[in-house]
Amino acid sequence: MRVAVLCSGRGSNLQHLLRACASGLVAARVTLVVSDQPDAGALGIARRGNVPAVVALPKEPGETSAAYDARLLDVLTAEAPELVVLAGYLRIVGPAITRAFPGRIVNVHPALLPAFRGLRAIQQAVTLGVRIAGCTTHLVTDELDGGPILLQAAVAVRDGETEEHLTRRVLALEHLLLPRTVDLFAQRRVRVELGRAVVAPGDSWLTKPGVELAAGALYGEGF
Ligand code: GRF
Repeated sequence: MRVAVLCSGRGSNLQHLLRACASGLVAARVTLVVSDQPDAGALGIARRGNVPAVVALPKEPGETSAAYDARLLDVLTAEAPELVVLAGYLRIVGPAITRAFPGRIVNVHPALLPAFRGLRAIQQAVTLGVRIAGCTTHLVTDELDGGPILLQAAVAVRDGETEEHLTRRVLALEHLLLPRTVDLFAQRRVRVELGRAVVAPGDSWLTKPGVELAAGALYGEGF
């Protein structure tokens, strides 16, 4: 399965996805990485990972979001991905993109959606003193962080745990959840029914050799 990944920053989720594909854990190939930030670490990770097409696509001064998305769509369609993955992509993906890839764009978000949509999700969670935190992969629709939920994983927040520490623990969950989500698409096990994502039965990463689970985490159905 051909996968395109959109990034804006460090690229640790991209790195874990590339590793999972290289090891054969996930039957997919990242054929394109695009970053809207020309200095994103993700671009170096993509180049070192021998991704065939690596594109820095900064927004032009004064360019509208629609015009930017039209350029992004050209880059995407040229590579004909079966799945588009948002891995720390900080721009909102507009309707031209969601229409071109219906049910085929996934995002990873560092909160248990529908709580804490948008930016600084972990900061919001720590400020409100939640006892359970986690991350979600979901299909991307025109509603920000609001598309059908695919997978979730959770950890108990520790007494006095800092935002920085919790961010690290949730990121470790993202590094498992996102490759597993791509794996489910590669296995054609995801469909949408009545606005909800359904994962068909099959193997589980809870018992899969080569998968290193995070200690003490809870992995929801489908993982
Ligand atoms: C992740 O926490 C992702 O959920 C959020 O941004 C972070 C990206 O990290 N949207 P990285 O660039 O994959 O290292």
